Amino acid sequence: MLVETIPRSLERLKKLIISTINDGGKITAEQVKKLVERAQVTEEDLMPYADFDHPVEDNYGRKMVYDGGSFEIMAMSWNPGHYSSIHNHGYTQWGVVQVFGNAHHFIYRNKDNALTFAKKEILTSGEITKVVNATIHQMGNPSTGKYMTLHIYGSNEKEGDITADAKNYELEFDRVNHTTGGAFFNLPADKIYDFEPCAMPSNDVFINYAKLLMDYYERQEPSLEINELKMALIKKLKERTCFF
Ligand SMILES: [Fe+2]
Repeated sequence: MLVETIPRSLERLKKLIISTINDGGKITAEQVKKLVERAQVTEEDLMPYADFDHPVEDNYGRKMVYDGGSFEIMAMSWNPGHYSSIHNHGYTQWGVVQVFGNAHHFIYRNKDNALTFAKKEILTSGEITKVVNATIHQMGNPSTGKYMTLHIYGSNEKEGDITADAKNYELEFDRVNHTTGGAFFNLPADKIYDFEPCAMPSNDVFINYAKLLMDYYERQEPSLEINELKMALIKKLKERTCFF
């Protein structure tokens, strides 16, 4: 579905970003956060982009509001209990997320070949958080209601495809995939163009991840493949947490 007229607040946000870019100089996430505050976007304004009935394989609904080449404005739709993969943001040099519900936000540290939690927080409705390309994070809806989030991603250097080459951490396979697709679990092979080894997750990171991935598997159409993935995940969890 194409939204023909962008709601006024989103149009305002788009113009504020374009005029800041045209003023020259490098844009920072902090600046964009202030522009989002000024634009006063509401969840109602995002509703034309709602996609709660997205395919079950996707972790959330994902719609482009405006593609400005060097920046993108997107709207995401989150059903209860749904979480993104653990991911980073490709060529994004500055990014901002505004949530319209209570959202889980996990930020990870990848250091000395270990993946640990750097921060776990609940963003409350209306809150705005900054994201840069080095940020490895995961967002999700821990509540019983659905809601939307507003995302702005940009680059001072690249024109077009700025969220391309994002990386998803597939802890169940000890690897990180490179994709131009979403921050989804279990991406199909045609959405992945490279792999690299993954840092070793701490046990609390792995257990949390395994729970969210199992929830995702449970939502899928039952199949032999999903059953095998579930069993492999349980085996890995057992190996990591039990003596025998
Ligand atoms: Fe993200």
